[in-house]
Amino acid sequence: MKLSKRLEAIADFIEPSDKLIDIGCDHANLDIYLCKKYENINIIASDIHEGALNQAKSNIEKNNLSKRIETRLGDGLTIVNPDEFDTIVISGMGFHNIKKILSNAPKMVNYPKIIIQCNTDVVKLRTFVTKLGYKISKEELVMDNEIIYTIIEFTKGIEKYNYSQNYFGPRILENKNELFYEYYSKKLLKYENLLLQLPGYEIFSIIHHKHLIKIIKNELTSVKEKISN
Ligand SMILES: C[S@@+](CC[C@H](N)C(=O)[O-])C[C@H]1O[C@@H](n2cnc3c(N)ncnc32)[C@H](O)[C@@H]1O
Repeated sequence: MKLSKRLEAIADFIEPSDKLIDIGCDHANLDIYLCKKYENINIIASDIHEGALNQAKSNIEKNNLSKRIETRLGDGLTIVNPDEFDTIVISGMGFHNIKKILSNAPKMVNYPKIIIQCNTDVVKLRTFVTKLGYKISKEELVMDNEIIYTIIEFTKGIEKYNYSQNYFGPRILENKNELFYEYYSKKLLKYENLLLQLPGYEIFSIIHHKHLIKIIKNELTSVKEKISN
């Protein structure tokens, strides 16, 4: 089974012993792949849309995995009990939807591991989830079809992050690579162009973008040295 590079990278965050719930499973491609990768893993695959879940069910049946992947219809974490899983995957959604799912979750405190690939506002996502009592234990940038995605694993715990750590990702900063260079070179260009267009009265936005440009330039310089060594 051919999985997208993005979903393959998310699958690499899952351990064979994880009791997984995949929220917003869509066609359950990730879950089918994981069941083939790990022979003992069992998964709850859920989606809010009946059409998507019916397609998931059909794919699961075709792969003879109905005993290992249970499907559930409904909104986020409201359709499970916390003792049914220990790892949550939420991927391919925007920040506001993910925030809503986590905010509406019962007993947030009991979820040991949350793996998130958020399509928008990754910086806001870090701030939000860490405020819920989670630390960032693992992070990765992955390129799929010319788009660079960030995958983050949150686990229970407290760790304070400074502005740069929250912006770039604390674990990503520890392991800067060519993809990091490409991603932030593009962002730098975008912010520099934006700064030129900002009207003088947008003082806070000007200060904010100047700061971003400064910290991105700093990181790009250090990663360039690392890559060329
Ligand atoms: C763009 S797809 C992503 C599918 C897959 N997770 C991936 O990463 O490729 C988003 C899926 O999330 C589902 N979804 C959106 N909000 C949801 C919610 N509150 N609870 C459960 N599923 C949700 C949608 O129906 C859709 O199937």
